[in-house]
Amino acid sequence: MGTIILPALADVHVHFRDPGGTHKEDFATGTRAALAGGIVVVLDMPNTSPPTVHEAALQEKARIAEEKAHCDFGLFLGAGPDNASEASALGSRAAGLKMYLGHTYGPLLMNDLPAMIAHFQRWRGPGPIAIHAEGPMLAAAIALARAYDQPTHLCHVSRAEEIALIRRSKASGAPITCEVTPHHLFLTEADASRLGPFGFMRPTLGTERDRAALWENLDVIDCFATDHAPHTRQEKLGENPPPGVPGLETILPLLLTAVSEGRLSMQDVVQRLHHAPAHIYHLPMPAAEAEIDPDAEWEITDEALHTRCGWSPFAGMKVRGRVRRVWLRGTLAYEDGQVLVPAGFGRNLFAG
Ligand code: DOR
Ligand code: ZN
Ligand code: ZN
Repeated sequence: MGTIILPALADVHVHFRDPGGTHKEDFATGTRAALAGGIVVVLDMPNTSPPTVHEAALQEKARIAEEKAHCDFGLFLGAGPDNASEASALGSRAAGLKMYLGHTYGPLLMNDLPAMIAHFQRWRGPGPIAIHAEGPMLAAAIALARAYDQPTHLCHVSRAEEIALIRRSKASGAPITCEVTPHHLFLTEADASRLGPFGFMRPTLGTERDRAALWENLDVIDCFATDHAPHTRQEKLGENPPPGVPGLETILPLLLTAVSEGRLSMQDVVQRLHHAPAHIYHLPMPAAEAEIDPDAEWEITDEALHTRCGWSPFAGMKVRGRVRRVWLRGTLAYEDGQVLVPAGFGRNLFAG
């Protein structure tokens, strides 16, 4: 078979650590990793340092990203205890509002019901409220989405009971959408023991039953998203390893491998990396194409990665399907391992 052309692909969940953590990743290395992975639009999370919760922080992050990005991007605002009005007023300049209802990396944790309600009451989009919630807090998020009729996107769903709850909630009209990561689709707690800190993220890897449940409920999974969360090897090997794994350069090869095995169709992939992200996040998608060789067999290695952290939980895995070229707004942006467009080529999709 020859090569196949895919439309503009978007990853709606990445952490580029810029500003404040650029030794892990910055907008240049992160967007180069995106292009190498066949992705031309990334939505960056607000748990940076400082967190993206006020206008000044959003403006400063946009300035940095406009200077460094090689592909297009949108920026999330973070929900804090006292910024509901300000966040709502900034809605058109952000991809969405991210709310953390569980402990993970960074300072943005909401556990105060009045503050949660203030955001659900005031947020006017156009993007959704995107939620990090696990277990019982996922039910709380769905209840808030219903009560305030607020479009709500549930990040990195990972457990059998969670996807079952989402199925029932969608069937009864809750205004929710959801995403699943490649690591939860392709790895389990057995891999977590093998990988140690390099297989540790939030939500943690589930059981084989959880993993199977995600595949069985593909029809209620709106998007695939990486939760690309780079940390250095040194940090991962330290006393208190931070949660998170990179994923931008491996998502498409892993999904293409599943296509080659007949577990997914190419249309399933395009739906969840192009159509649904564009629809849910109101993305003004750039004209772009990724040329892939569906038959190329290769092994994922740390050495070939563009992400600054330089490692992958999928290293050593043999995959089938490779990104050959990426065009962005008519320009050849990536070809066989090389990023060909300069820093600053990427555009802010929500420049306002
Ligand atoms: O594993 C994770 N890492 N989960 C998150 O929710 C945050 C992320 C990070 O920023 O490192
Ligand atoms: Zn999260
Ligand atoms: Zn995340």
